[in-house]
Amino acid sequence: DSHQAAEDCATPLPVLRHVADAMAADMRAGLEADGGSDLKMILSYVDALPTGNEKGLFYALDLGGTNFRVLRVQLGGKDERVVATEFEQVSIPQELMFGTSEELFDFIASGLAKFAQKEGGKFNLPQGRTRELGFTFSFPVKQTSIDSGILIKWTKGFAVSGTAGKDVVVCLNEAMKRQELNMRVSALVNDTVGTLAGARYWDDDVMVAVILGTGTNACYVERVDAIPKLHSPNSTSGRTIVNTEWGAFSSGLPLTEFDREMDAESINPGEQIFEKTISGMYLGEIVRRVLIRMAEDARLFGDCVPKSFKCHFLSGINCFCSKRQSIDNRTPDICAMQQDTSRDSEEVGSILYNLAGVNSNLSARKIVIGVCDAIARRGGQLAGAGIVGILQKMEEDSKGLIFGKRTVVAMDGGLYEHYPQYRRYLQDAVTELLGPEVSKNIVIEHSKDGSGIGAALLAATNSMYGH
Ligand code: BG6
Ligand code: GLC
Repeated sequence: DSHQAAEDCATPLPVLRHVADAMAADMRAGLEADGGSDLKMILSYVDALPTGNEKGLFYALDLGGTNFRVLRVQLGGKDERVVATEFEQVSIPQELMFGTSEELFDFIASGLAKFAQKEGGKFNLPQGRTRELGFTFSFPVKQTSIDSGILIKWTKGFAVSGTAGKDVVVCLNEAMKRQELNMRVSALVNDTVGTLAGARYWDDDVMVAVILGTGTNACYVERVDAIPKLHSPNSTSGRTIVNTEWGAFSSGLPLTEFDREMDAESINPGEQIFEKTISGMYLGEIVRRVLIRMAEDARLFGDCVPKSFKCHFLSGINCFCSKRQSIDNRTPDICAMQQDTSRDSEEVGSILYNLAGVNSNLSARKIVIGVCDAIARRGGQLAGAGIVGILQKMEEDSKGLIFGKRTVVAMDGGLYEHYPQYRRYLQDAVTELLGPEVSKNIVIEHSKDGSGIGAALLAATNSMYGH
């Protein structure tokens, strides 16, 4: 069984190449027509990227997978850039992820209102003037303009009732009104789009942004004449950012029975298959499932298959067993186990003991590390193949403008930031797929927390006061 699983999840070069090609093909199909492919290829209405000239006080609200963050920034224009910035982070209580739309937006708006009250002297906009906000909303939204968009569906651990089909800016505005908060959403953006804008502010060569965190997604700069479904392009720059929503990609992925079982028991079966194979919310859960099977069928831990192993191990308290996917998932634990290079793998032993109450011998610990490595390798390499797919598509349309010069891919998200092996597998796959000549030009760079600033910058670009 475990041999079969190892075979099923293998990612040799031809598999990665196929994934890259399929990603490029799915992108094209999604640009042709809505519903044309797994990839939604959502138009962001962001046609002008930050230039560095943005000025004024702007707020940003960033609703990701695990936390929401609020930020204010005083932009000083070309020479001064970021004059002052402050932010706060609040983790989203899990019951709110399964509550009503009003409850969630009230919670967010009240956090924002508290933060806004603390605006001090280094920020400069007259009292009583409407504050402008960039809203980073990290879920698939059908944008209808730069400052409005309808939630298509929740992803990751969210199953809030009453939001799908609604304009999320209206939801936020109503909640802000209840808080008597004088703010206006000037830009609604996906977290990938915020990250691209934030990174681009410092570096003109940024063309792609990828999030690898709780969930995963990518966006990139596209030429409007390469988007057949865009009937009346009115971008003055001739370019726009496209949010691929690549989490929904599914073609040619090397999946195992464990992936299929996890998907079937998830809150969104059949959806977000790429996301379920490569992102932080799921990696620990896949490992947990493999280890349970090995404990039961191959006596990995001798006679021990403790009950807690079934439910709590690697998956937090609210694990898949209760159909409530935990955001407090255990990918950090598989990552920690992989960092243990000691001779007797003591750290692995203690993590296994703390999580599941199992006593493990050295050979079992080595096997556990091997399983973690296999799942992280597959994830990292597939993410790398996805990135190559995007670059390939851009290169095909613009001969030499991507591969022939420095091109930056801005990366963010907890998984990318904290899992060194995953990062290495991703980079190695990109290098191998592109070859040494081309990969010299492709820079994959961590752009930490850029999405907040990015959203604020886009709020500035679309400010009602002009800019
Ligand atoms: C953050 C970005 O750094 O990463 C957010 O600023 C993004 O916009 C988040 O949603 C994703 O990572 P995670 O690990 O929180 O899901
Ligand atoms: C999920 C969301 C997507 C977001 C990504 C990363 O895939 O659908 O919009 O960008 O997670 O946070």
